[in-house]
Amino acid sequence: MKVVKLHNLQVSDAQLFADLANDSRISQNTSDRFPQPYTFSDAETFIKRFSLQNPCSVFGIQYGTDLVGGIGLHFRDDIYCKTAELGYWVGLDFWGKGIASEAIRLILDLGFSKFDLQVVVAHVFGRNMVSQHVLKKNGFTCLGTIPNGAFKLGKYEDDVIFFKENPNR
Ligand SMILES: CC(C)(COP(=O)(O)OP(=O)(O)OC[C@H]1O[C@@H](n2cnc3c(N)ncnc32)[C@H](O)[C@@H]1OP(=O)(O)O)[C@@H](O)C(=O)NCCC(=O)NCCS
Repeated sequence: MKVVKLHNLQVSDAQLFADLANDSRISQNTSDRFPQPYTFSDAETFIKRFSLQNPCSVFGIQYGTDLVGGIGLHFRDDIYCKTAELGYWVGLDFWGKGIASEAIRLILDLGFSKFDLQVVVAHVFGRNMVSQHVLKKNGFTCLGTIPNGAFKLGKYEDDVIFFKENPNR
C-alpha cells in the first residue's frame, strides 16, 4: 500500500498542482477562493504565498511518490486564534483510495500537537456526502446545518459545519 504524506509544496510543483486542481468536479465543492479554471499562475501564486508561511500549514498531499492534491489548516485570529479551518481536495484519478482520510488524520495531528490548536472546523456543502464521511471518520462532530448558508455558482447551498476538539486535552 502506498503511503500518504504531507508534502511541502515547491514552485516546481505548480504545473502538476494546477493540472490536478483544474477540474470543476473539485471546485464545485470548494469555496470560491479555489479558482476555476485553475491555471499555472494560480498554482504558482498559491504556492509562493503559503510555502513562505511560518509555521507552514498548507501542504500538497503525496501518495507514494505522486503529488495528488492539497490540504491546509487556515488559522483564524483574534479570539479565534486557537481555531483553524480545514480545507482539502484530491485529484480525480486518485479518489476513493483512502487518501483524504489519511491526509486529514496527518494534518490534525500536526494542528493539535505542533500548532497547539484547540478546535479545527470544516464547512461542507450538504450534498457533499463523501467529504462529510471523511470528516466523521476522523472524529469530527457535525454541529448542524445552516440552510442555504452558502452561495456557490449562482445557487444556494446548505452549509454543514463540523468541528473537532484537541483530543490531547
Ligand atoms: C472529498 C474528497 C477530498 C475525498 O477524497 P478521497 O481521497 O477520495 O476520500 P477517501 O478515499 O479517503 O474516502 C472516501 C470515503 O467516502 C465514502 N463514500 C463514497 N461515496 C460516498 C457517498 N455517496 N456517501 C457517503 N460516503 C461515500 C467512501 O466509501 C470512503 O469511505 P470509506 O473509506 O469509509 O469506505 C474528494 O472527493 C475531493 O477532492 N472532492 C472535491 C473537493 C472537496 O469536496 N473538498 C472538500 C471540501 S469540504
